[in-house]
Amino acid sequence: MPRLGVNWGFMKFQAPRGTNDVLPSEAMQWRQIERAFEHVMGGMGYGEIRTPMFEEIELFRRSSGETSEVVSKQMYDFHDKGDRHLALKPEGTAPAIRAYLEHSLAQPGQITRLWYFTPIFRYERPQKGRYRQAHQAGIELIGSSSPAADVEVIEAAVRFYEAIGLKDLTVLLNSIGRAEARIKYCQLILDKLSSWLPGQPLESQQRAEKNPLRLLDSKDPSIQAELVGLPSIFESLEPESLAHYRKVERLLERAGISYVQDPTIVRGLDYYNDTVFEIQSSALGAQSSLCGGGRYDGLIQQLGGPTTPAVGFGAGLERARIAREAAGFPLEELSVDVFVAGEPLTESETEAWVRLLRQSGLSATYDFDLRDLKRQLKMADRARATFVILVGPEEISTGVFKIKTMAESRQDEIPREQVVSWLQSRRPRAET
Ligand code: HAM
Repeated sequence: MPRLGVNWGFMKFQAPRGTNDVLPSEAMQWRQIERAFEHVMGGMGYGEIRTPMFEEIELFRRSSGETSEVVSKQMYDFHDKGDRHLALKPEGTAPAIRAYLEHSLAQPGQITRLWYFTPIFRYERPQKGRYRQAHQAGIELIGSSSPAADVEVIEAAVRFYEAIGLKDLTVLLNSIGRAEARIKYCQLILDKLSSWLPGQPLESQQRAEKNPLRLLDSKDPSIQAELVGLPSIFESLEPESLAHYRKVERLLERAGISYVQDPTIVRGLDYYNDTVFEIQSSALGAQSSLCGGGRYDGLIQQLGGPTTPAVGFGAGLERARIAREAAGFPLEELSVDVFVAGEPLTESETEAWVRLLRQSGLSATYDFDLRDLKRQLKMADRARATFVILVGPEEISTGVFKIKTMAESRQDEIPREQVVSWLQSRRPRAET
């Protein structure tokens, strides 16, 4: 998006690096995407949750994990005036679970289904599809360890993308097993790298040792070369995890959702176990991941709650919008239903018409200065008005109003009492 800084003569301001202004025509696309999400999740029995923009930093350290890049390098943290150490939320799961526990949303034997929209803040290197303030739509299904819950969550994501018209998506599926299997597997990675690791910078060595799984999706070719021949994490799964995974596969097939098993999907946050998945779109380029999620059966206990299985996903809204644009969905231009053209003599009637039309659910504007008709028609054109209604002394005295349909260069004469219904029945789009 081109950035036009505001020049006040002495100082030029721009949105902070890695953030975006959403301008009106793009905002309409956001709203379409958000509405589709609400609709799909509402239909699946999910309720909305809204959590604060910032939380105690410890919440993220304890949940996403000290070794995840998101926590170790990318958090926007600060001390407030009461010297509390806080962080702008880098993701939505930990805050949702914190709220779930704080407000005792759990009902014995019941499943809790939550959805949310949230900004997320990560100090990343910005590029197309990767921002420092991004936005996610997400869901969390809390209270079931059934493979059917994993499939419900994956299906919810797929149905959402279908609802916004995205096709050619790939569901990448993997299992990273349980903690014990992962500890064994991590040791396998470290053994494989035993001669390479000591030559690396101390910080990389420490990070690798804390969580060797992070190395698997590293883009560094020297790491990848060292890892050649390493069996996949999938091959180290315990029987229970493998059985769970196979059931997920069967249920996905039954739901008609195609997927690709990808052993390199290990996810960037520490709380996952067993099923993990991402949905990718080829339309996105380098930042190809539209959405990511998985099962996190240990997180609720880690945050002080009872052992409770859970599964969820987060979907990047900027990426959904970019993918839609690449798929050919046009940006909608901002428009108005009716431009009311008046004269200084008919000022109060012009205002009354604008008010009446707006109250009738039509969008309407007018020229505050009531300049000559030619200038008002130019304004109407720039505002992309569908109709222009002329409110002159003649129309007022006869009670018959001229209405121009701009796209058709046509003019109709409509009696006062029929104007609103005439316009309502001809406006081209539904109310937004
Ligand atoms: P995540 O994979 O870190 O997972 O993020 C989910 C999605 O958010 C990504 O696939 C991407 O579309 C979008 N996203 C993340 N970071 C950025 C960024 N810097 N710029 C633009 N888009 C971004 C989570 O956050 C987990 N909380 C998901 C989850 C929910 N797992 C279980 N429940």
